[in-house]
Amino acid sequence: MIVLRNISKIFDTGNVSLTAVDNVSLTVEQGQIYGIIGYSGAGKSTLIRLLNGLEKPTQGQVTVNGQDISSAKGEALRQARLKISMVFQHFNLLWSRTVRENIAFSMQIAGVPKAKITARVDELIELVGLKGRENAWPSQLSGGQKQRVGIARALANNPDVLLCDEATSALDPQTTDQILDLLLDINRRFNLTIVLITHEMHVVRKICDRVAVMEEGKVVEEGDVLQVFTHPQKPITQQFIRQVSQYAEEEAFNPELTSELAGTVIKLTFTGHSTHKPVVGELTLRYGLPFNILHGKMTQTAHGVFGQLWLQVVATDEQLNNILADLQQSDIEGEVIKHV
Ligand SMILES: Nc1ncnc2c1ncn2[C@@H]1O[C@H](COP(=O)(O)OP(=O)(O)OP(=O)(O)O)[C@@H](O)[C@H]1O
Ligand SMILES: [Mg+2]
Repeated sequence: MIVLRNISKIFDTGNVSLTAVDNVSLTVEQGQIYGIIGYSGAGKSTLIRLLNGLEKPTQGQVTVNGQDISSAKGEALRQARLKISMVFQHFNLLWSRTVRENIAFSMQIAGVPKAKITARVDELIELVGLKGRENAWPSQLSGGQKQRVGIARALANNPDVLLCDEATSALDPQTTDQILDLLLDINRRFNLTIVLITHEMHVVRKICDRVAVMEEGKVVEEGDVLQVFTHPQKPITQQFIRQVSQYAEEEAFNPELTSELAGTVIKLTFTGHSTHKPVVGELTLRYGLPFNILHGKMTQTAHGVFGQLWLQVVATDEQLNNILADLQQSDIEGEVIKHV
């Protein structure tokens, strides 16, 4: 478990001081994939560097599995860092070493016996899907393959935490998805805690359990991915969510046009298990009313599906109240857009 308590980082450069991280508190549970999203300069990289002790906080405390990283020094910090590894946007591979030598490097530094290194490297090459490329040079690899080396290297010493700083930002969308699938697979297989920073909501949608949104050094919104996607509070979060196509499409559906329709318009919001219910069918049977589906879309996340459905129906006040109560019973949110 990672706990940040009131963390601030102020950089003093000459006579100007800059608050890169501003009073951030958050908790990452063991085995979680935790996303931190924000625009350039929001303080994401600074925050992630505080997690492995590469930066010291100006104020506050970072603990990883109970150990205080913010105050650790020397050998204690070195040992702690072996269990908190990192994957970088531009891979940071050693260009004069082969794939195998890159993966072996951190184990050599840690003094692992040679036979053990060989066995572990073979295992990691298999795990990240680089079999057949073990003797290639980094310059002979595609971006996705380079990042697979970066991930294998980061896993070499069996870390407790994997930090990813824009690990897919240099990759095309298809390769991004393959690397995200690999991270998800590693997380599920080893219950490895992953903290990843990104500026793409797609990355959060695809693999994260929780997300924090950063703006000007502060965490302005934080929560479970499904919750944040269905109920974004801050304009910046709404902007990020619009990156994911569902919301772009939803904008193409203009709710104001429903004012010309007769009767009642209800917007249904589903999350998780409520998406499995035959809700329109049940409402039709129960009330004998013809429901008109105006617009709808479901989106998949690592935690199940969420979606929205717009229905039109001509109903009395009493029928509408009953419909809303039925929806609530089924864990579906019903918002009345209009009712005449
Ligand atoms: N070592 C440093 N000295 C002075 N200022 C710094 C230092 N590192 C970061 N900053 C400043 O802190 C702020 C946050 O930077 P940071 O790199 O954490 O942002 P980021 O969210 O990772 O951005 P990006 O998406 O571009 O990587 C920026 O204004 C940056 O200029
Ligand atoms: Mg950064």
